[in-house]
Amino acid sequence: MTATIIDGKAIAAAVRAEIEAAVAARRARGLRQPGLAVVLVGDDPASDVYVRAKARQTVEVGMLSFEHRLPATATEQDILDLVARLNADEKVDGILVQLPLPPGIDAQRVLCAIVPDKDVDGFHPQNAGRLALGLPGFVPCTPLGCIRLLASVKTDLAGLHAVVVGRSNIVGKPMAQLLLAKDCTVTMAHSRTIALPEVCRQADILVAAVGRPEMIRGAWLKPGAIVLDVGINRLPPDAGTGKARLVGDVAFEEARRVAGAITPVPGGVGPMTIACLLQNTLTSAERQDRAA
Ligand code: GUN
Repeated sequence: MTATIIDGKAIAAAVRAEIEAAVAARRARGLRQPGLAVVLVGDDPASDVYVRAKARQTVEVGMLSFEHRLPATATEQDILDLVARLNADEKVDGILVQLPLPPGIDAQRVLCAIVPDKDVDGFHPQNAGRLALGLPGFVPCTPLGCIRLLASVKTDLAGLHAVVVGRSNIVGKPMAQLLLAKDCTVTMAHSRTIALPEVCRQADILVAAVGRPEMIRGAWLKPGAIVLDVGINRLPPDAGTGKARLVGDVAFEEARRVAGAITPVPGGVGPMTIACLLQNTLTSAERQDRAA
């Protein structure tokens, strides 16, 4: 068997096209452009790449992009002051503080300072709590993207056994909540799980979000399983080709021979994250209009 490859790049482009049309329709009705503020502290190269991509795609769908860069020497108070200004700015519908923050900054304190109505990352305790209770709120973008990718291959997930490997606040925990809301039977596995290959082999849906290159092998999969690979791991340059390689948490070439459907890395889950961030920003603008 060869798995269906889930084309995240194409699905993300379709989501962005829907958002672009919705933003254009808003403007035609005389409503303002949604605005997204992104805060980057320091000069982490990977974060710089993400922040640039976010700003570019925000503008491409017709929204306003506000990019704020603070030096690595910025204090926690500097960041909190900027967040307070963005909270009060009527042109800003969404605020994203890029993680990781430099050492010495209390990231949780910064995330808690973002007003929950503009927390398009869904990291504020109020939004995390809302998700756990099944109440409307902002859902973190990567798990939201995963749900959209799942919907592209299977509409009814009721009763399926989903195994989420990884228990981060950004991916693993919210992913488990969303799968539960879709009536899956959910197992949360992590680095301390005993007999992880056997646990994974029970999965109809496997979500890998551990950050360990190619840890999940083909032999760990149930034949026909749907595999979502959230990992983005940069391997050092190959001795032969001299090229650096990007791999997921799943050994793709092995897994595609066993799985029913699988996301590639790159071009799977990754592109969906920014598309869902723009979706959350549009939702925020629509909510602010209704509240006005
Ligand atoms: N760093 C890596 N992923 C994310 C994300 O989804 N949001 C933020 N704010 N920072 C990140």
